[in-house]
Amino acid sequence: MSISDIKASYAEYADWIHRFERLDRLVTGRHRRDRFGDVNGEVLDVACGTGTNFRYLPEAVELVGIDISPEMLTKAEATLTDLGRNGTLREMDAQDLAFPDDSFDAVISALSTCTFPDPVAALREMERVCKPEGTIRLVEHGRSDVELVARYQEWRADAHYAKTGCRWTQEPREIVTEAGLSVRDVRTGLAGMITTFEITPGEDTGT
Ligand SMILES: C[S@@+](CC[C@H](N)C(=O)[O-])C[C@H]1O[C@@H](n2cnc3c(N)ncnc32)[C@H](O)[C@@H]1O
Repeated sequence: MSISDIKASYAEYADWIHRFERLDRLVTGRHRRDRFGDVNGEVLDVACGTGTNFRYLPEAVELVGIDISPEMLTKAEATLTDLGRNGTLREMDAQDLAFPDDSFDAVISALSTCTFPDPVAALREMERVCKPEGTIRLVEHGRSDVELVARYQEWRADAHYAKTGCRWTQEPREIVTEAGLSVRDVRTGLAGMITTFEITPGEDTGT
């Protein structure tokens, strides 16, 4: 899908996604809290969507959220209001971040690389804008390690992509490796469908 197809898809689904956010949190909240609960300073949430990550961040962080979809950002603004939190939200392409190098203490992103047309470019951008002493945290989803579930995902992969723009059989570890990022810690959950990363920016993995 092109960027404009993705924008059109999220314009259509933003309301529905926002309404079912509670259900999303039931499934992914534990993983988001685990990965994002200890970041600090200036934090960039890449492809923040409706702002599902915001409640898992410590109160003291200076939050910036970006997303390509204005409709998702409108919901993210409502989430900030509901949570009584401050933050800056901007419409921006994750593959071409409009921030100088080394801008943020932490760069976080959840369930997003599966929708980026070029996920490797987006991960390299996250590394570029993260301070060398900072941290990159990802909560990603992909192919299950339970064979029956994985077979279902593969069977439905094309239809799921056509409807939502999400490559749900993507292997997050492969994308992170291809981007040459240095993984400090990786964890999996939910029958292997969730993979979370702590990444150290600026370290050469030799890939
Ligand atoms: C499945 S949603 C995840 C949203 C949120 N991170 C969460 O965990 O609930 C994927 C998000 O990626 C955004 N997105 C897709 N392509 C993008 C791009 N190139 N740049 C920025 N955001 C993008 C979509 O608009 C959507 O909000």
